[in-house]
Amino acid sequence: MEFDFRFPTNITFRVGSTDQLPDVVLSHGKYAVIVVGKESARSSGVLERILSSLEKSDIAYSLADNIPTNPPVEQIESLASALRRKTPDVIISLGGGSVHDTAKILALLLSHPGKTLEYAVDGERGVSAIGACVKPVVTIPTIFGTGAEISPAALVRGNGMKRVIFSPWLFPRVSLVDPSLSLGAPRDVSLRVGIDAFVQGLEAYWARNASPLSDLFARAAIRHSVSGLVAISSAPAELDGRSTLAYGSLLSLLAVANSGVGAIHAISNPLSGRFDIHHGQALAMLLVHVAEKVIPARRRRSEDVRRILCDILDLPMDNMGGLPEVLSHLLSTLDLGTIPKLSSLGVRDSQLTRIADESFNSDMTTSPSELSRDDVVAILQRLL
Ligand SMILES: [Fe+2]
Repeated sequence: MEFDFRFPTNITFRVGSTDQLPDVVLSHGKYAVIVVGKESARSSGVLERILSSLEKSDIAYSLADNIPTNPPVEQIESLASALRRKTPDVIISLGGGSVHDTAKILALLLSHPGKTLEYAVDGERGVSAIGACVKPVVTIPTIFGTGAEISPAALVRGNGMKRVIFSPWLFPRVSLVDPSLSLGAPRDVSLRVGIDAFVQGLEAYWARNASPLSDLFARAAIRHSVSGLVAISSAPAELDGRSTLAYGSLLSLLAVANSGVGAIHAISNPLSGRFDIHHGQALAMLLVHVAEKVIPARRRRSEDVRRILCDILDLPMDNMGGLPEVLSHLLSTLDLGTIPKLSSLGVRDSQLTRIADESFNSDMTTSPSELSRDDVVAILQRLL
């Protein structure tokens, strides 16, 4: 048996965990930048509570708010130039995946020279130019699914593509996870974001780089994220489902940080980067179609997943069909709403080969199935 395993983020998982924020900030300094999204943190009152706790501890702060989903690189760079002379000690992110990614990129730009995309995995400086001087990041997730609150990756939209920056130095130092903070998130948004945790668990379990330890996390991620999603789908105001999904989301990241993802994520990247399609929505569109291509390369593992899903969804193991049928059943049980056609999201037939070319990014390298460009075009055509 051989594997490497690393995990440097300190995670505190409990209702009320944000009480620790002032002490966590003070261990780094007295001036923080707080990155938040467009609405929810403010309307739910969480932001106000956090700001007042910082003020009580004499911590100064600047607010970087209104961060959109899939933020464009120019927006983050203009934030960084406004903050550069203020030399913050710590970056706090309060929100979902895009907010955490923005915080990580700010932490990079405030400690390194040059432009964001130079540090992308395919950038001219590359990820090896990222060093230990990255500003510390503290994440407070308010919605669960991406695992971005504990991931060493930041995704950003630049030059019409979703670009990945990935470095061990981008791991957040601390994640204060309070599942109750997600209770204010609408049901449909929670499910759309939350499906990512399941797909990450699934792709980690299928991945070429899967190890015994990543398998352990991946199987648990599948189980907990699907249980959480099903519970939120029927009772979005209950804390139990929210906690279960928050846990599943952390587990999915613990798995993929050590195994990588695969073809579903790989193809979703150009769809989100070029057409601003929500990450979870792109994953849900691709799930069954890509699964049909991957299953022949991972029969035993796909059967494991089928059994876990049948158990959670209370489906008869013997006459439910294969994993693709069970995955379709899962999507309809969750009632994610109508999954749109790519054509209704601005994608044209003439663009499919380019999307397929861009699907062969770093996420594709860990897919167990050797998909060809034609395979990807065929999948996209079915979604058009
Ligand atoms: Fe994801």
